[in-house]
Amino acid sequence: MSALPRTPRVLSVANQKGGVGKTTTAINLGTALAAIGEDVLIVDLDPQGNASTGLGIDRKARAKSVYDVLVGEAELPEVITRTAVPRLSIAPSTMDLLGLDLEIGTEADRAQRLRTAIFGLADAVDAGDERAGPFTYVLADCPPSLTLLTINAMAASHAVVVPLQCEFFALEGLSQLLRTVEQVKAGLNTELSIHGIVLTMYDARNNLANQVVQDVRDTMGDVVYETVIPRNVRLSEAPSHGKPALLYDLKCAGSQAYLRLASEVIQREKQIRAGARAPA
Ligand SMILES: Nc1ncnc2c1ncn2[C@@H]1O[C@H](COP(=O)(O)OP(=O)(O)O)[C@@H](O)[C@H]1O
Ligand SMILES: [Mg+2]
Repeated sequence: MSALPRTPRVLSVANQKGGVGKTTTAINLGTALAAIGEDVLIVDLDPQGNASTGLGIDRKARAKSVYDVLVGEAELPEVITRTAVPRLSIAPSTMDLLGLDLEIGTEADRAQRLRTAIFGLADAVDAGDERAGPFTYVLADCPPSLTLLTINAMAASHAVVVPLQCEFFALEGLSQLLRTVEQVKAGLNTELSIHGIVLTMYDARNNLANQVVQDVRDTMGDVVYETVIPRNVRLSEAPSHGKPALLYDLKCAGSQAYLRLASEVIQREKQIRAGARAPA
């Protein structure tokens, strides 16, 4: 297993629970990183394709998708599309991804397909393929499961960003996720770490939410980002307009929170590179 290249930095947005804010985080963290000058690729690994739709990529425009890449029928640059956001591209998903396990589940390299594809981007850039970037960040939006798609994402990633919804059972299931990270680290990708835990859908009027934030911070320590994403209706409206919230309403509390999260992500990256923060 060769080491991951330093660029692009590859982050998986993962949690096997559905509806915790993975896709909202992938889209808006990706947009915020692009807004502060990074070149970002979002890889949509959820068969539901919410990241693709939320970034305005029409289903009909998805002739080829990440599925074709993972089954070996397309190269990653062939499926990469620019979005309306400058410096933000996406490799869209289609429902075909539901059949991935059946298609490649017995292949020896089944868990390494995305890693190989992302490694290959640098060669495509050298060969003059503009669709291939160069990207400084890749964000993989994972499906709500810990199956082959999420394993592919983790095997290709430097680190995992874990959205946790501010609700009573927030920490439930986290140990299973952390176990999966350890397994991937042991078997597929020794460099994998937890980049951070981001608390989402925080409602300040709800006493329970404050308790949850405190509990998660007490339990998980400084792996939890300072930034907490508020519950904000603009964040949930934006996808139906095919836009990230940062384009739909830059001033709303949700957009502003994702901008803060992006600077925190970059800050942590600097600390990791300087050796000042041990990967969790
Ligand atoms: N901070 C937030 N405030 C309000 N609604 C949110 C927020 N984050 C996500 N949502 C909404 O909650 C639902 C689930 O979020 P989503 O990002 O799709 O989760 P996941 O990808 O983990 O399934 C979506 O309808 C989304 O628009
Ligand atoms: Mg999602």
